[in-house]
Amino acid sequence: MLKRIVGLALIAILALGLLPNVSAQEGENICGTDEEATVTFIAGTVGSEHEVAVTLGNRFMEVCPNITVNVVERPTSTTETLAQYQQFFEAQSGELDVFQIDVAWPGLVAEHVLDMNEYLDEEFLGQFYPGVLAGYTVQGRLAAVPWFAGAGMLYYRTDLLEKYGLDVPQTWDELYTAAKTIQDGERETNPDFWGFVFQGHAYEGLTCDALEWQASSDGGVIITPDGVVDVNNPNAIEIFDKIASWVGDIVPEAVLTFQEEDARAVWQAGNAAFMRNWGYAYTLGQADDSVIKDKFDVGPLPGKEPGMSAATLGGWGLSVSKYSDNVDAAVAFVKWVTSIDQQVWFTLQRSEQPVQPAVYDAPEIQEQLPFILAFKDVLNFATPRPTAVAGEQYARVSELYYTAVHDVLAGSKDAATAMADLELALADLGFELP
Ligand code: GLC
Repeated sequence: MLKRIVGLALIAILALGLLPNVSAQEGENICGTDEEATVTFIAGTVGSEHEVAVTLGNRFMEVCPNITVNVVERPTSTTETLAQYQQFFEAQSGELDVFQIDVAWPGLVAEHVLDMNEYLDEEFLGQFYPGVLAGYTVQGRLAAVPWFAGAGMLYYRTDLLEKYGLDVPQTWDELYTAAKTIQDGERETNPDFWGFVFQGHAYEGLTCDALEWQASSDGGVIITPDGVVDVNNPNAIEIFDKIASWVGDIVPEAVLTFQEEDARAVWQAGNAAFMRNWGYAYTLGQADDSVIKDKFDVGPLPGKEPGMSAATLGGWGLSVSKYSDNVDAAVAFVKWVTSIDQQVWFTLQRSEQPVQPAVYDAPEIQEQLPFILAFKDVLNFATPRPTAVAGEQYARVSELYYTAVHDVLAGSKDAATAMADLELALADLGFELP
C-alpha cells in the first residue's frame, strides 16, 4: 500500500515537475529564446504585403511576448529593394534581422545570410516542395525559407467577355483582337478604358513579363541553363515588336512606367479588359469595395499558339541576416511565419501560390481560392529566370534584358536591333553566343 502511495506520489511529482518543463521547452522552441529580443523584418509593400507582414508580426508577439517584431517597408520595386539590401549587407549592419528575399536573388545575397539548413530540421523543411527549396539553395546553402511562389497570370473581365461575345484568349493575337473589341466598345462611355495592362517599367518586373512573351512564343529563355545567350531569334523579335505595337493602341503609353501596382490600379478601377499580374491581385480585386468583384477571373497567359502559355516563376522567401544580433528570435519568427497554419492564413489574405503541398489541401483554400489549385502545377512548369546560370551576374543580366525590351516598347529601337545588341552585351558578360 505504502509502495503504491509513494509510487503515485512520485508519478504526481514527476508529472507536476515535468509538465511545466515540457511547455517551457515548447515555448522556447517557438520563440527561439526566453530573453527579450527585437526582430526587425523588412517586408512589403506590393498590394497588402506590408499590412499582412505587420499582422504576422503582431500575431507572433502575442505568441511570444518577450519578442518585439518591428516591420519596416521595402521599396515597391524589387530592383530598388535589392539595391537597398545590398547597402545594408555591405555595411554588415545588424539593424535588420529578417529580409524578404526575391526568388531571383539567392545567388546575390547568399554570402550575407544564414544557411537555414543549419537551423531547421528535415521534418520542417520536408514540408516544402523540393523544387522550391532548390531555388533558394546556393552551393548547398539554403539562403531563404520559401514564403510564397508566384506565376504570371492573365486576369480577364468575365462580364466584358460575355458582353462582347468573346472567349478567353489563348493566343497573343486573340488577346489583341479581344482587347481591341472591348476597348472600342467601352470607350464610348469610358474614355479611360484600355484593353491590356502589364508591367512595362524598366525593372525586374519587365524581365518577368518579357520572359513570358519570349517563352510562350518559342523564342528562348534569355540564357539557357548551360550558359548560351537565348534572345536573338525570329520568334522573340516578332513577339517583342508585336507587344510594342500595342503601346498607345490597346495598352496605355504609361505602361512604360508601370510596376505591378500601377497595372492593378487601372485594372481594379474597372478600366482594363485584361491584366498580366501575380496572384496577389486576386483577393484585392475580390474585396467587398472593389468595383470588379465577381466580374473577373484568372487563368494562363496566352501564347503564340493555343497551349503555348508560359509563366515566369516568381515568389519570395525569408532570410536571416548573418549580421543579426538576434539570430535565435529571428529564426524562430521565420519558422513560425512559414508554419502551415500561418501559411494557410497568409494565402487566404494574399492569394499567392503556396510553397507547401499541405497548404493546398486546406479546405478554406479549396473553397475560397479555386484558381490557386488550378495553378498548383505551375510550380512544375513555370519558367525560371536565368538566376542559377547567371549567379552573381544575374542583376546585370536582368538589367541589360529589361533595358533592351524597354527600348523596344518605347519605340527607340526595333526588336531586331535591340536583340542583336543585347546578345552581344550578354556575350560580353561571359555567356556563350549561340
Ligand atoms: C513579384 C515576384 C518576384 C519578381 C517581382 C518582379 O514580386 O514574386 O519574383 O521578381 O514580382 O516585379
